[in-house]
Amino acid sequence: MPMISRAPDTGVWLLSTPRTSYALRVDDTGAPCHLAWGPRLTLREAEELAAPQPPVASSFEGRPEVGEELPVDGGTRYGPPSLQVRYPDGSRAFEWQHTGHRLLQPAPGVAVLVLLFRDRLHPLHVALHYTVRDDTDVIERHTVLRNAGDRPLSLLRADSAAWSLPPLPGYRLSHVTGQWSAENQLRRDPLPHGETVLTSRRGITSHHASPWVMLDDGEADEEHGRVWSAALAWSGSWRITVQRTPGGRAGFTGGTGHEGTVVPLAPGEEHTTPVFAGLFTDQGFGAASRAWHRYVRDHVLPHADETAPVLYNSWEATGFDVDETGQKALAERAAALGVELYVVDDGWFGARRDDRAGLGDWTPSPDRFPDGLEPLADTVHRLGMRFGLWVEPEMVNPDSDLYRAHPDWVLHIPGRTRSELRNQLVLNFARDDVADWAYGWLTRTVADNGIDFLKWDMNRSLSEAGWPGTADGHDRLWTRYVTNLYGVLDRLRDDHPGLRVETCGGGGGRIDLGILRRTDQAWVSDNTDAVDRLVIQHGFGQVFPARVMSAWVTDVPNQLTARTVPLRFRFHTAMSGLLGIGGDLTRWPEEELAEAAELVAAYKQVRHLVQHGDLYRLSGPHGEQPTVVQYTAPDGSETLVLAWRRGPRHGVPQPPVRLRGLTPGARYRDTRTGQVHHATVLAGYGYLPDLEPGDWASTAVHLVRAD
Ligand code: DGJ
Repeated sequence: MPMISRAPDTGVWLLSTPRTSYALRVDDTGAPCHLAWGPRLTLREAEELAAPQPPVASSFEGRPEVGEELPVDGGTRYGPPSLQVRYPDGSRAFEWQHTGHRLLQPAPGVAVLVLLFRDRLHPLHVALHYTVRDDTDVIERHTVLRNAGDRPLSLLRADSAAWSLPPLPGYRLSHVTGQWSAENQLRRDPLPHGETVLTSRRGITSHHASPWVMLDDGEADEEHGRVWSAALAWSGSWRITVQRTPGGRAGFTGGTGHEGTVVPLAPGEEHTTPVFAGLFTDQGFGAASRAWHRYVRDHVLPHADETAPVLYNSWEATGFDVDETGQKALAERAAALGVELYVVDDGWFGARRDDRAGLGDWTPSPDRFPDGLEPLADTVHRLGMRFGLWVEPEMVNPDSDLYRAHPDWVLHIPGRTRSELRNQLVLNFARDDVADWAYGWLTRTVADNGIDFLKWDMNRSLSEAGWPGTADGHDRLWTRYVTNLYGVLDRLRDDHPGLRVETCGGGGGRIDLGILRRTDQAWVSDNTDAVDRLVIQHGFGQVFPARVMSAWVTDVPNQLTARTVPLRFRFHTAMSGLLGIGGDLTRWPEEELAEAAELVAAYKQVRHLVQHGDLYRLSGPHGEQPTVVQYTAPDGSETLVLAWRRGPRHGVPQPPVRLRGLTPGARYRDTRTGQVHHATVLAGYGYLPDLEPGDWASTAVHLVRAD
């Protein structure tokens, strides 16, 4: 069956992915209407769903609030608009007129449907884009708006897409909330009637919410049940509005910007929204996560096929107190542990001794690095490691040479306070000269110092977001800040194809499918407490794969929580993502260094499973049972089981967990003990992870096929 087909009589479009179908059609009024998103259908079957709408029940009802592909502000629509326009004459509204379609096949296994429309009155053109692939059930959608007139207009809301669910007896909403150092707290609650808004108004993706959403009928679990989900590829302010209507439907619309942000559209100008990708599965939250992980690895990340190196980062060890001698000492210790990438964090440049000065002055401090960064980079390379550097290109301390030279480069509104957070202001990256300046020093620094890796940080939300001296800059900056940021990253990567980048926003402040398209991994949280981290990683992994989930082993008592857990437990937590070390290795006793070296070596034996395998969450991080996750080779040839227990409680039974993704009938050997297990027993009856008695026990069990 073709991936995209159309029934000539009814005009029904059917989009097919390996396991799902999506159907829509343009109705008699010219509006694109949703028909189906769920299990596979034939075109005939999809046509059955194209029943005429029942007549409106009263003069107070309009068109159904859920069930259009992009509900507009216009006509008798009263739900949250995905598209809201203000024309030069001050009037609003959009009235659909269908003008055609295009079918594209940009690459083998990829099909694109573009439905073309315009407003019946004004020359505003709208194109709805749908991309389907033969190796994923994720459907990518975005919208392109073009002002074909000769006067400017304003997009008061320009969402990427609206997604509709079928009528269900109940609905449940899954999403994450959080804050700095407590990102990705998974919430799973009944969907309230009315409208629920998930949003960031901060100009960045935010620690407080993540631009994805999952809905189910309230009955789904890790392995069963229908789950509809979507994720937005955008790194600025965003909004997803989820609706549950009185008529018993649910759906959501999502796109860039928060309320009040406007996208100006000059004559001839085109605005392309980011992708808002959707996924349906009938096999529960576990299958949804695995499908998202595969999609991110195969179609979002630039180099997901690579093996990510074991990293060392100096931040928790030294704070701002970095110099050549101290960094070399740490680098030697790190190399001895088997670390493959050494990253110097904040404090290497200008007058940066704390967070009050120097940000913006990107030359190595002469008193700390008298001969620049090269001698350190050479040492790191000689030790067999790659060399990484922390940068925060979008920010400036008022106490810096950059700010003294260019006080107008920051986001500001003349006459108003320039609010500082962490003693810093935000450079107006929407300005091309500012973005060019950042690109210039970054590309030079990378080239001159043999830099292999950048940790790209950003440590505050936007405020007083103004761009004086421009006619509509105050509106444009919300979008252009982000596209210019993407542009700098893209240009840098083009210049230095071997460069790898970690996205960081004071921990997990900027992680989304947009930034991940041009970065390689993400610093998930500044909270490195291994116990808190299990909860954060649980929420993070709902959509984002372990392939990007950077995690460090740091010192105890933990800097943030003061909790002390064994080195092994800390390692096992970090080993469930991209293993890094962030402790002060000059203070680790010999026996801990030896144990760490063993654990690094053990990680290298299994990291292909963590980074490229399928994740099964066998037991979550809350409650009294141990937390257990499993990473399995897609061909079932081997698997890694990681388990953590806080503390045993006498009388609380610990049932075995049933392993997943194994080859039926095969036998598996434990690489440490040599013990052989039958897949039938492991999958059907369960496996009891071997956890030592006492508090904070953890284990990593690697099982490989024995026959
Ligand atoms: C916030 C990051 O999340 C930390 O890891 C560290 O890089 C600091 N910024 C440095 O200022």
